[in-house]
Amino acid sequence: MNILVLNGPNLNLLGEREPRIYGTMTLAQLNVKLAAHARKKKASLRARQSNHEGELIDILHAHRKWADGIVFNPGAYSHYSYALRDAVSSIAVPTIEVHLSDIKKREPFRRVSVIAPVCAGQRYGKGLRSYLEAIDDLLRADACA
Ligand code: DQA
Repeated sequence: MNILVLNGPNLNLLGEREPRIYGTMTLAQLNVKLAAHARKKKASLRARQSNHEGELIDILHAHRKWADGIVFNPGAYSHYSYALRDAVSSIAVPTIEVHLSDIKKREPFRRVSVIAPVCAGQRYGKGLRSYLEAIDDLLRADACA
């Protein structure tokens, strides 16, 4: 199974960005842990990050034939990007939306995701574990298909 892990804006600053909320692990360290987890489960993983909405759309399009599943942290775009929502629903690849923090317990604008309704699932509030659980969700769904 091929899995794309896609991170959106400001997630390149993980480790130094508001560590009280997002933890001290850098994006590179997170990606190493996700790759090891995927390898253990015999899945291939590609990790990408962009701060730009259009580039995130291009990455989703470019991986639509390669990826069997996508783990997507759209960052703040989660809360208002209909363009990213359309991109996810345009590419028939099961996508799990993830967040490091518990978006349901933060500011009101973060409690709503416009992308989640077109995703196969959502994991949030568990840091690295949100991503690991999303990978496992995709692997389980693939095994059932
Ligand atoms: C986030 C939550 C978003 O509200 C925020 O804008 C982010 C990170 C998270 O992983 O917790 O950039 O997606």
